[in-house]
Amino acid sequence: MLKKTFDRIENYLLEIENSKNYLKENLSPSELLEKIDVSIKNKGNKDIFPLIDNYLEFSVKTGSKHFYNQLFGGVNIPAVIGEFITAVTNTSMYTYEVAPLATMLEKEIIKEFCDLIGYKSKEGIFVTGGSNSNMLALLAALYKNDNNHKFSGKSSQNQVFFISEDSHYSYDKAAIILGIGLNNIKKVKTDSSGAMIPLELEKLIVEEKKISNYPFFVGLTAGTTVKGAFDPIKDIVKICKKYNLWSHIDGSWGGSILYSKSKKYLLQGSHTADSFSIDAHKMLGVPLVCSAIMFKKPGVLNELNNISGMDYLFHKEDDIEFNLGNYSLQCGRRVDALKLWLTFKYYGRDGIKIRIEYLVKLAEYTAEKINQDNNLRLISDLISLNICFQYIRKNDSSEETNDRTNYIRNQLILKKKYLINTVLINSKKCFRLIIVNPQLKIEDIDRLLNTIKNIAADYCFEK
Ligand SMILES: Cc1ncc(COP(=O)(O)O)c(C=O)c1O
Repeated sequence: MLKKTFDRIENYLLEIENSKNYLKENLSPSELLEKIDVSIKNKGNKDIFPLIDNYLEFSVKTGSKHFYNQLFGGVNIPAVIGEFITAVTNTSMYTYEVAPLATMLEKEIIKEFCDLIGYKSKEGIFVTGGSNSNMLALLAALYKNDNNHKFSGKSSQNQVFFISEDSHYSYDKAAIILGIGLNNIKKVKTDSSGAMIPLELEKLIVEEKKISNYPFFVGLTAGTTVKGAFDPIKDIVKICKKYNLWSHIDGSWGGSILYSKSKKYLLQGSHTADSFSIDAHKMLGVPLVCSAIMFKKPGVLNELNNISGMDYLFHKEDDIEFNLGNYSLQCGRRVDALKLWLTFKYYGRDGIKIRIEYLVKLAEYTAEKINQDNNLRLISDLISLNICFQYIRKNDSSEETNDRTNYIRNQLILKKKYLINTVLINSKKCFRLIIVNPQLKIEDIDRLLNTIKNIAADYCFEK
């Protein structure tokens, strides 16, 4: 059974490398259900291979060169193998007893990331994603403010925190979960690149204090979701220190840029922030989910997560340092470190640096091609790997340009089998092209831009 499955997986991976589509057929939910019987029956059927074939056939091939839609893409084989082995060895990260080597791997990767950021500590934990990291950073900040928070709950002060208007929506969810409330998120203006303006931040902090609100946290972003912008760390952390606020760098998307020789300057001062998160399932190409948060100060995680009444799992005689459940919000936790560790082992740190630098150069090539074309226009400057651009024609109204972008996207999906997201920037509908698959070559980029131009020529505006 396993051999038959692995043959299929191998074929699938070989196929997507040269695949000319990201999805075989675009079907509505009802059309999909007509083709494939997903219903659960009383009687089982041991022949699951047609089901596996269907799943592979009707899934989006995020590893193909026609997929530019998300902040992940491509295939990292050592990491895929790590994912299988994680499933096969099926354990949980809470105790050394049931995950001895996995514990050591997770600790090694946390140390690698702490070194990368410039933290002297080895404090950190794998989490369920960047959203979870943002929430955990907020929780740590609440705790730092008021050690009693863990016992008494939310303080009576009206606590407010600051993020840029370009930061990720997960902060909204975190504010709801933690009882801070959406109204207590203060959004700081960004400059044209999408980076938080430090002066605007300080202005807002002062205003909030004046009305007796209690600022406690600033969320910086290293690699914003849409524009790929980086908030100026040194200046913002200085402000945080002045007002005694926690500084968290959401590096879910752009944290891995620290491995790029030419771009790591964007993260100068990262070691001064209180916490820093990285999603290895984005730029590092590890299958979802693979994500970690690191802390400058040792001991934070245990202070937050260490509670009593867990003696069915953790025993007094255990060495607490190696029972990672004492440092995690989760109880059962997947072994997400193995796939990243195999990636580091296979490629080496040097290989990772080459990967990121290649993506940086390919994004620069793409932006340059767009700049040189009379009908293509960047809507925001290239900072990292996000390329926001429009197809434009002389004399077109902005309404027509926006409509044309939608038309092109739909045609790309339906006829050319490309998936690229669109986004609104200052009322301009544009493509958000993400260069994250290191299998991409400049020929692939040329082909894509030509395809966009050819489709654009067919467009006819209907009022
Ligand atoms: C800047 C940023 N932060 C956080 C997240 C959320 O990460 P995750 O999907 O791993 O929860 C994203 C997702 O794209 C992001 O772009």
